[in-house]
Amino acid sequence: MTGKLDGRVAIVTGGARGMGEATVRRLANDGAIVVIADMLDNDGKVLAEEIGGNVAYYHLDVRDEAQWHALVADLDTRFGRIDILVNNAGISHHMALEEISSADAARVININLIGPMMGMGAVAVVMKRRRAGVIVNISSVDGLRGSNAKGAYAASKWGLRGLSKVAAIEFGGHCIRVNSVHPGAINTPMSNPTGSPVDAINARMTMVPMHRMADPDEVAAVTAFLVSDDASYVSGAEIAVDGAWSAGYIQPMLPGAPLQLGDTQ
Ligand SMILES: NC(=O)c1ccc[n+]([C@@H]2O[C@H](COP(=O)([O-])OP(=O)(O)OC[C@H]3O[C@@H](n4cnc5c(N)ncnc54)[C@H](O)[C@@H]3O)[C@@H](O)[C@H]2O)c1
Repeated sequence: MTGKLDGRVAIVTGGARGMGEATVRRLANDGAIVVIADMLDNDGKVLAEEIGGNVAYYHLDVRDEAQWHALVADLDTRFGRIDILVNNAGISHHMALEEISSADAARVININLIGPMMGMGAVAVVMKRRRAGVIVNISSVDGLRGSNAKGAYAASKWGLRGLSKVAAIEFGGHCIRVNSVHPGAINTPMSNPTGSPVDAINARMTMVPMHRMADPDEVAAVTAFLVSDDASYVSGAEIAVDGAWSAGYIQPMLPGAPLQLGDTQ
């Protein structure tokens, strides 16, 4: 069977767990050679071994420019190509504005924004040489609108949304596409660290019009589309995968309000 990504070389940052893991599994299933680039060495190695075949683990701290260049040089030597970069690694941060220290803010911005910037710069050299490449930056619903307690996180994710557009413009003439994906509430260790039952969480999801979290596979499917040739003219776009969370707000007292609390779809 031929896959849509046969023979392509992909890097997925933060690929050791959560949405990154789902993306690794999906791209590998579509035929790509996939590099899990993460700092969770044990989880990453176990995952690579479990999937087997064309999946490998590399230690990468996305903040470290030198590590990015070493990874890219190694893959270029081995394969002579890097076709896909998914900048997925990220950390969450919830704090009122007056509580945020500059150290907190710098940590969030360094991982969620500067990391992807360094990654795009590093892979661009190989992608430009081959006049081919696709980059997906995993931003957030918090990169599309505001929310309390998200001062540093939203700043990083809005920044990543803007950075994606800059890259789409700079790289467009080199046949490299860049898009941002904006997940809403996704059931991963980040948003559900204790592994609570999904139904219990969904019962409280009144702010999301679809009244439920998503499975990480539902985001991975959108990323897989964006990195495939099916999206050959999609660049500079922002794709919400958020059950309509960013579409507007619910007016509970007016007709057309969504489901009752506890109902799911
Ligand atoms: N889970 C959600 O509801 C949600 C919603 C919107 C956006 N996002 C974004 O999706 C992405 C994936 O999130 P997730 O929910 O799977 O989170 P997660 O915490 O389950 O996984 C994040 C991964 O990133 C890795 N990582 C963190 N810092 C790193 C660094 N400096 N270098 C390399 N790897 C690093 C972690 O080791 C981990 O494997 C993040 O960018 C997050 O901000 C998540």
